[in-house]
Amino acid sequence: MDSLKVGIIGCGTVGGGVVKLLIENREVIAERIGKRIDIVFVADKDVEKVKKLGIPEEKIVDDGFKALERECNVVVELIGGTTIAKEIILSAIEKGRDVVTANKALLADYGEELFKKAREKGVSLKFEASVGGGIPVIKALREGLAGNKIERIYGIINGTANYILTEMTEKGITFDEALRKAQELGYAEADPTLDVEGYDAAHKIAVLSTLSFCRWVKTENVYVRGIKDITPLDIELAREFGYKVKLLAISKLVDEELEVRVHPTMIPENHILSNVNGVFNACLIEGDFVGDTLYYGKGAGEKPTASAVVSDIIDIAIGNRYSVPECLFKDEKKLKIKAPEEFISSFYLRFTAVDKPGVLAKISKILADYGISIKMALQKSIDINGGVPVVMTTHPACKSKILKAIEEIDRLDVILSPTFVCMIEEL
Ligand code: HSE
Repeated sequence: MDSLKVGIIGCGTVGGGVVKLLIENREVIAERIGKRIDIVFVADKDVEKVKKLGIPEEKIVDDGFKALERECNVVVELIGGTTIAKEIILSAIEKGRDVVTANKALLADYGEELFKKAREKGVSLKFEASVGGGIPVIKALREGLAGNKIERIYGIINGTANYILTEMTEKGITFDEALRKAQELGYAEADPTLDVEGYDAAHKIAVLSTLSFCRWVKTENVYVRGIKDITPLDIELAREFGYKVKLLAISKLVDEELEVRVHPTMIPENHILSNVNGVFNACLIEGDFVGDTLYYGKGAGEKPTASAVVSDIIDIAIGNRYSVPECLFKDEKKLKIKAPEEFISSFYLRFTAVDKPGVLAKISKILADYGISIKMALQKSIDINGGVPVVMTTHPACKSKILKAIEEIDRLDVILSPTFVCMIEEL
């Protein structure tokens, strides 16, 4: 039986999972594809850790660049980051090796350079594990939906943020309490910045957008806002209006422009995405012929991510070389990225106001002056900084008008704290 020689660089959680999968399911995979997948080297500084996975000493290298000197067909880059990982990938491509990576940050920022290099050298650069962990969402986009024009993507694609928001929703606890719990359970990193500030999801939606809209989309093209300022009060008030709060990644065509954003979003509580809870991920993709499709599963962790990495290795073994769409390499006019101020959306606005006659009239007058139409309104008898929460949702309005109106409203002497604003997506 033929074999494919695979070298793994980086043996942390995901790398360890890939080693375990390739050993444990070796026969199943060989029977399925008629080819053996052999690990020919594993590179990691911690040699003892790799040995414990059952890899013989002669296959372990303590340096990724040294490992690249060894013969192999496929290099699997699992060290993460955007510096050494990039050099490793470029060097592997230069040597004519196919490459598999899970590195969304690298692809979001340097994808254009890396994919161009891979194309020039005639090798594959595969990245199923970069989005949605074990969910085959990249494969769905590039194969199952290949005949469709993609119209919109909605993703809950950061498990840590989703876990935190789910805990806040179900237990009424604060962001800090939920984050601490996520860290205790090992869902959140010691430094949770990328997850809670939305950048991990931004990297992932950049990758999905690049695949879907024939345009290189980078992190800098994504409007990003994290979940740190979400309070249990806003989650509860959103529920009263029939919404749940999710960190949603959105990519959609609006008036021939591409809108790409990641932010806390209120979505209808009876929508299927509202029931994606805890560390689970889901992606809703709409194509012009297929309509809405939904992908759900574990978006992180050793086993799900290893499952995605190995699917790429198998693709290479069976000669499925598809990587990113060809149109990305043509110098045609690029889709314009919509500026955040131009987003049209419904909004949730929570004012902290003095409870006395005429306050509501002052707020609504300013909104009306900017042409913003109120959809629902509610006032609660709860004390916040000596005032009460006055909550409104709006009909679709332009973000720039909302921001200008809020600026004016926040200058009123009856407003006691900065107004909390959240976009609503009716899906
Ligand atoms: N940290 C990510 C998450 C998983 O919480 O979903 C890796 O992308």
